[in-house]
Amino acid sequence: MCGIVGCILKEDNDVAPILFDCISKLEYRGYDSIGLATFDEGNIYIKKDKGKIEEVDHKLNLSDMPGSFGIAHVRWATHGDPSKLNSHPHVDEDTSIAVVHNGIIENYLEIKEKLTLEGHVFKSDTDTEVIPHLIQKFMNEKFDLEHAVRKTIDIIEGAYAIAAISKNEPDKIVATRKDSPLIVGIGEEGYYLASDSPAILKYARDIIYPERGEIVIIDRDGVVVHDEFDNVVNKEIDTINWTPEMAEKEGYDHFMIKEINEQATAVRNTLTQKDNIQEIIDDVGDIQRICFVACGTSYHASLTGKYLIESLAGIPTDVILASEFKYSANTLNENTLVIFISQSGETADSLKALDVANQTSKTLGIVNVAGSSITRRAQYVIQTQAGPEIGVAATKTYVAQLTSIYLFAALLSKNVELLKEIEKVPDFIDETLEDIDFIKDISKRYNYARDFFYLGRGYSYPTALEGALKLKEITYIHGEGYAAGELKHGPLALIDEGIPVVVIIPPGDNYRKTMSNLEEVKSRGANVLAIGSSDDESLKAKSDDVIAINADVKEIIAPLVYIVPLQLIAYYITIEKGHDPDKPKNLAKCVTVE
Ligand code: G6P
Repeated sequence: MCGIVGCILKEDNDVAPILFDCISKLEYRGYDSIGLATFDEGNIYIKKDKGKIEEVDHKLNLSDMPGSFGIAHVRWATHGDPSKLNSHPHVDEDTSIAVVHNGIIENYLEIKEKLTLEGHVFKSDTDTEVIPHLIQKFMNEKFDLEHAVRKTIDIIEGAYAIAAISKNEPDKIVATRKDSPLIVGIGEEGYYLASDSPAILKYARDIIYPERGEIVIIDRDGVVVHDEFDNVVNKEIDTINWTPEMAEKEGYDHFMIKEINEQATAVRNTLTQKDNIQEIIDDVGDIQRICFVACGTSYHASLTGKYLIESLAGIPTDVILASEFKYSANTLNENTLVIFISQSGETADSLKALDVANQTSKTLGIVNVAGSSITRRAQYVIQTQAGPEIGVAATKTYVAQLTSIYLFAALLSKNVELLKEIEKVPDFIDETLEDIDFIKDISKRYNYARDFFYLGRGYSYPTALEGALKLKEITYIHGEGYAAGELKHGPLALIDEGIPVVVIIPPGDNYRKTMSNLEEVKSRGANVLAIGSSDDESLKAKSDDVIAINADVKEIIAPLVYIVPLQLIAYYITIEKGHDPDKPKNLAKCVTVE
């Protein structure tokens, strides 16, 4: 979902290589186009085009631009197709102002109409282009850049993080945000703006988080933040504990496979949150109902949470898609704990729901990105410790979310046994990853399929949904996750000769019933790929392929381990098909529009 950066260097060195380096780290937020704007000796220079960063750089040599300050953008197209004209930065008629924007300006059509009547000429189909024109209009009325931006945000409606430069006010970048992320970095060599911290980790780890409506002015001397009444706001400076290397591939072919391999560490590090989670449970008091609210992969982690909390703690628990949350808002009260799960902490649907929930209920965010909007707006926060995740398809953040939920459920229900089982998970994950070559070979053989089914019961049902989502996201093969017992109520009609059915069948209470479902699909010609226990001989006899997991992985903790082969299957099919697993088409890692 679009990424922006800005940088001003203290010395008069070229900023373009740094801008290019920073924006490249945000490619996971959008890969429809890339563009840079720099300022030098009275002129704004722009290089931009549609296409992935590498392609555009090859054509335009993006690091070769004059000037020591500038802005940059990667786009995930919303208004207007991916094209050079629609690429950011956008400018006014005489290129005196350049703007990058992440978000959506909802009232851009009426603004555009009005400005056109006043003589402004627009070149793109984007909503963003109204912003430089509005800034130009106000600067023509003798407002300085800061106040022209302030006047502009009084007019625009929607979600935005904006950074603007003007050739009439050199050596300055003005930025602001509402409902889209923006951080400010203070580095040794300069000052930085970015949609997300991986962009600037190499240059600055001291971070300021601007709030909605605050205006950030960065120049060679530092950073000033003003509130809506022009008062200086004394912002706290946080230091990020992520390192630049964490956001690099470090020898792996893709971020996704690196992140799959980091899952044991993600779980281990998240286990350190136990005391914090206990404190939250002690503080939150009487809870009669829990509501999980999330999107995508985080929704599947939430579903696992429902199974755990209802069965262990007996507290009625709902799981609501963030985009559908408003219909349930009337059922909340002060004894409801609403838990928001989000790796990015910036998902627009979840943030909207959080604002609603905050009015009536207690709210808890389970979030991977420190300082993100959900961490600032939820009443309680559990920080998952997965480190930066760059691959668009969530993997290590998912197991880190599950780890937090497991700790929460185990502590809430004072289940010491479960706590002991969770401690074993990192070793189980690493052991599963030892079979990576075997899983790779199996995956290649399933590359032919047009449809896949994933079946699981109980705790394994959300795992089936997540396995199918991984497949859809990166291989572009249709995958459906089903509760194994539900298959016979309709979808069984779709099972035919050779259709791959992935059955998640750990040992435990649901084993026998799931085995019956496996036999039902097998007898109708399905190609069964089972994920089950290493000592399960009968499973080996009945399935076409089996990926074996340590027999000591109990059904209750299976979601944390059995997901690993499913992620690998999706990854290796994607490689076999020649797609880029890190940047699936049409998707973005952080979805900041509703
Ligand atoms: C996007 C991503 C998914 C993610 C979902 C929710 O759709 O592509 O991978 O699961 O957003 O994101 P969140 O940051 O709220 O977990």
